[in-house]
Amino acid sequence: MNIKDLYNDYLTSFNAYLNSMSLPGSPAHLYEPIVYTMSLGGKRLRPVLTLMTADMFGAKRSDVLPVALSIEMFHNFTLLHDDVMDRADVRRGRPTVHRKWNDNVAILSGDTMLTLATQYLTLVPEHYLKGAIELFNRTAIEIYEGQQMDMDFEQRDDVTVAEYMEMIRLKTSVLLGAACRMGALVGGASSDDSNALYEMGVNLGLAFQLQDDLLDVWGDPEKFGKQIGGDIMCGKKTFLLITAMTEATGADRDVLAYYIGGDGRCAPREQKVTAVMSVYDNLGLRERAISSIASYSAKAVSVLSKTSLSPHNISVLSELINMLTSRES
Ligand code: IPE
Ligand code: IPE
Ligand code: MG
Ligand code: MG
Ligand code: MG
Repeated sequence: MNIKDLYNDYLTSFNAYLNSMSLPGSPAHLYEPIVYTMSLGGKRLRPVLTLMTADMFGAKRSDVLPVALSIEMFHNFTLLHDDVMDRADVRRGRPTVHRKWNDNVAILSGDTMLTLATQYLTLVPEHYLKGAIELFNRTAIEIYEGQQMDMDFEQRDDVTVAEYMEMIRLKTSVLLGAACRMGALVGGASSDDSNALYEMGVNLGLAFQLQDDLLDVWGDPEKFGKQIGGDIMCGKKTFLLITAMTEATGADRDVLAYYIGGDGRCAPREQKVTAVMSVYDNLGLRERAISSIASYSAKAVSVLSKTSLSPHNISVLSELINMLTSRES
């Protein structure tokens, strides 16, 4: 079976479980946004990672589905709050919850999703419960730390690439690592295997966020499902902007000074995004980001040789990593 079909098989299994979840109808402004968000799909990458890794260690599907749902529900909670923080209007091709309803609804429905996530986590077999809760909580706090760094960096103009890498490790990568480690945990994997799978997930996550930042500039909004240029509008310190701010000279430097730190900060969207993009293009930053993505993906693949997984399973995970590296959505 090719990797796309395998991915879709896991997706189908996950979606069937998700559809069996029932929520109260009232208060509608608490539960409708949850149903709206969860039914808009997205890639479901994290639960697929959990289901796939769990299978590789022989876990029972019914033991792992609630954990997979817990992680996807948690991820979706972070998106509701992230879209408030980033003032983002579109997600998965549809209005974000805070735009369709309002900020308060996004906050409280998000909080409810976080709690639902912990409720589903407690359905894990009892002898894995403590480990699962510890992993979940540690990961959640790291994500909040990463999100705060992301926000703090908007106000700074001296953020380094190393600081950016640490910020995306926290806000994004540890959840992909945890999704893999949860699968290993429920499959009863050894600690060496669990650690290696976590490391794989973290490196995949670094490549994944670099790719997200790249798509935020050069993606096709139809496929990406988000408005292009959101990061530029917020002055997000991505690999692209940090490198541009460090390396731009002459007129390009003036463009960045004007639009990022100066009077052009609140310029109309089209004008600001086009101007900053032209600096990125002049510096060949798209190609440099692509090569950085390739190197973190290669690292994720190479970690797999540390595991006791079969050559077949190693090649399945390698194909998954490579598939994600060329994603457009
Ligand atoms: C979006 O995650 C947030 C990031 C970490 C970049 P995804 O790109 O996995 O979003 P969905 O769930 O597929 O919509
Ligand atoms: C995602 O960062 C990190 C979390 C949601 C925790 P982004 O802000 O880049 O995600 P998108 O682009 O809005 O999906
Ligand atoms: Mg965002
Ligand atoms: Mg964000
Ligand atoms: Mg983004």
